[in-house]
Amino acid sequence: MIYSRITGTGSYLPGPAIDNASLIAARGLDSSDEWIVERTGIRTRHLVGEGVTGSDLAAEACRRALAASGRAADDVDLIIVATSTPDYVFPSTAALLQDKLGIRNGAPAFDLQAVCSGFAYALAVADKFIRSGSHKCALVVGSEVFSRILDWNDRGTCVLFGDGAGAVVLEASETAGILATALHADGRHQGILSVPGHVSGGVAIGDPFLRMDGPAVFKFAVRVLADVADEVLVAAGMKAADIDWLIPHQANVRILQSTAKKLGLPIEKCIVTVERHGNTSAASIPLALDEAVRAGKIVPGQRLLLEGVGGGFTWGAALLVF
Ligand code: ACO
Repeated sequence: MIYSRITGTGSYLPGPAIDNASLIAARGLDSSDEWIVERTGIRTRHLVGEGVTGSDLAAEACRRALAASGRAADDVDLIIVATSTPDYVFPSTAALLQDKLGIRNGAPAFDLQAVCSGFAYALAVADKFIRSGSHKCALVVGSEVFSRILDWNDRGTCVLFGDGAGAVVLEASETAGILATALHADGRHQGILSVPGHVSGGVAIGDPFLRMDGPAVFKFAVRVLADVADEVLVAAGMKAADIDWLIPHQANVRILQSTAKKLGLPIEKCIVTVERHGNTSAASIPLALDEAVRAGKIVPGQRLLLEGVGGGFTWGAALLVF
């Protein structure tokens, strides 16, 4: 039986941490540190400088993940980048990343768009490639520059997000590995979180910024995160108590608390980085994973439940032995 196993993690955050007070002052926002912390838990975030792209962040995260796994760039035979903020319409961020990493072996490279569920989707897809026997060593990446799609006059959204990237090396293994994955989407809920336009040749077509019905997203997220966690636990024949660490998409600390509570897990078993990173969309799960691995919290052999929810709406989870 072929399993897929994470053999290395890496992440990258651009520039210095920007605290709420500095962001509010720099952008002239009608907001306060108190409001942001109380409603979201977010205290700081990292934002890219001019000219820095998602493939730049991804390349740095991947170099760190490859070093952690002991693999060379040319060992990689599959690259999947989860992103909603690609460098270009095309070529894909994954193709640009392949070039930046100097991978010259013709490995397939493609982007996957499932917004904040992107990493859960990408991990599940890579798992299926590896289990099929067609590929042996994948780079699975989440990389985002959401600062480029924020309306800095909309205080209800612009304080919530940050930029960053996270990556894992996923390899074929005789020992488990990823035990179960589940993916879902329901396009009827497209309207509660979207970017309903774009910029073309410097001209805005429609509304090119992120728009969100915060309370509706909150309710939806808590429900589906609990459901999909149950689904992978049942598929793997486990109970929530068997999980060493829950690593949910980092949208809002109150969503994390509600999700842990619904699963009957103490919040201490949940990796929380949203207070320092903000919401980095598809990058948030691999960023949180890498930080916890490097801090020595997550160690080999532990059971992890990764789960995400995002625009579309999409949601998904992976249960694995690290
Ligand atoms: N500073 C000060 N006041 C603000 C701010 C701000 N930054 N943003 C909104 N407000 C005001 C609103 O204008 C409103 O004022 P009013 O009552 O005078 O009209 C008041 O605060 C309450 O607004 P609500 O939107 O009802 O506030 P709520 O308690 O729902 O919190 C929040 C808003 C934090 C966005 C919350 O709904 C939430 O966390 N939702 C989940 C959304 C999320 O995490 N999205 C991330 C992307 S989706 C994903 O990753 C899954």
